[in-house]
This record gives sequence, C-alpha cells and structure tokens, in this order.
Amino acid sequence: MTIRILPSLLAADLARLGEEIDRAARSGADGLHLDVMDGHFVPNLSFSPATAALCRRRLAAGLELNAHLMMTNPERYAERFAEAGADTVQFHLELRDALNVRALAADLHARKARVGLALNPETPAEAAFPYLDCADELLCMTVHPGYGGQAFIADVLPKVRALRERAPALDIMVDGGVNAETAALAAEAGANAFVAGSFLFAQEDLAAAVAGLRARCAEAFARAWGR
Ligand code: DX5
Ligand code: ZN
Repeated sequence: MTIRILPSLLAADLARLGEEIDRAARSGADGLHLDVMDGHFVPNLSFSPATAALCRRRLAAGLELNAHLMMTNPERYAERFAEAGADTVQFHLELRDALNVRALAADLHARKARVGLALNPETPAEAAFPYLDCADELLCMTVHPGYGGQAFIADVLPKVRALRERAPALDIMVDGGVNAETAALAAEAGANAFVAGSFLFAQEDLAAAVAGLRARCAEAFARAWGR
C-alpha cells in the first residue's frame, strides 16, 4: 500500500516559516500537514487560511497540502481552506451530532478536495463506520489534539487495526507523537499515512529522516498486511 509521510508545520521554526516549508517540500515527503486550531475545540490557536495559501504557493503542484481542522465550526471554514489550496481537508467526527458530515464532505468533494475524518484518541472506530463511503482518509489522533511534542498513545492502535480491517483500501493516518518506533507500530496496526512534527523538524537531514521513516513504515505494513 502507498505510504505517505507528512511533516507537520506546527513544529517548524516559525521565524523561518518560508524556508521551513521549502525544506519540507525538498525532503521527499509527500506534502505538508497544517494544523488549524480555533481555541475552542482545542485549547490552542494556530494557523489560518493565509498560512495555507503560503504553503500552497511554496509547495510544488504534486505535493499535498493536508489541512487538519481542529475547530468546532468546520462548516464555516472548510471551504476557505479548500480555496486556499488544501488538497485534503480533515474535520473531527466528535462533532457528528452537531454537524452534517455528509453535506460537508459533499461540499469539499465538489471543490475537488479530499475529505479526511478525524477521531480523537477516545472516539471509537464505530463513529467512523457510517461515513466510510464519503471519506478519502481517516485520521486517528495518537495524542490529545492541541499541541505538538506529546507522547504517542499506544492505546489507539487497536482502533487503527479495526478501521483497517473494515476499510482495507482507505488511507488511514496517524497524528501525534510519531517517530521511527511509534510509526512502525502504527504501520503494523494498519496505518499507511504518518504525520510527524517534532520528530521530523528536529532533524538536520530531513530528507534522510523522511526516507528512513518511509522505509520502516513500508516494511512494517507489508509484513503485517502482505501488501
Ligand atoms: C496535534 C496536531 C499534530 C501535531 C503533531 O494537535 O494535530 O499534527 O503537529 O506534532 P508531534 O508530531 O510533535 O506530536
Ligand atoms: Zn494534526
């Protein structure tokens, strides 16, 4: 299965934001993960549509801009991120009672954006089951969203496995506390897409780190799932 590696801009050196985007773009990664926080769904604030547009301008056309909306009102802003050039817009399934998941997914698809459905660590796999047909990607948070640099929550791995068994062809992404060791555990459980912030941006040789992570994940996924 195709392995995707996405550095998270949250861990970049913000004083050199443009250069950091370029460094990730030249690293052999598949694109960039952009964390958007509203100070309400999570107790922190981060990037805006303007940052998404900056990333889009500096990323080559073939590289993915993956926007992770940690916000209570994704229906108010998702289109702004798609217009700014996000290829994938992810929003959270904890909002499923207050939000028309299918309508928002259809809006994004109409704008040619991929749809990612995100699950916090405590949210069960079953929350995603009714929506698998309108998602391109499932995002399993492996930390409590809001901050970079936290420790990977291994209790999420059975959920990754349950989702992979239920959705063999879907992209399943993990986000939070991902490094070479935890990524291999997640790949073995069935993840094929990996967001890494602190681990990747701390590396002097980002290209070598991305290549190493990709090889390790591909090997662990293939060993466990035979493809
Ligand atoms: C956390 C964000 C993550 C964060 C991951 O709320 O969704 O994308 O950047 O950072 P690390 O890899 O440092 O845990
Ligand atoms: Zn994220």
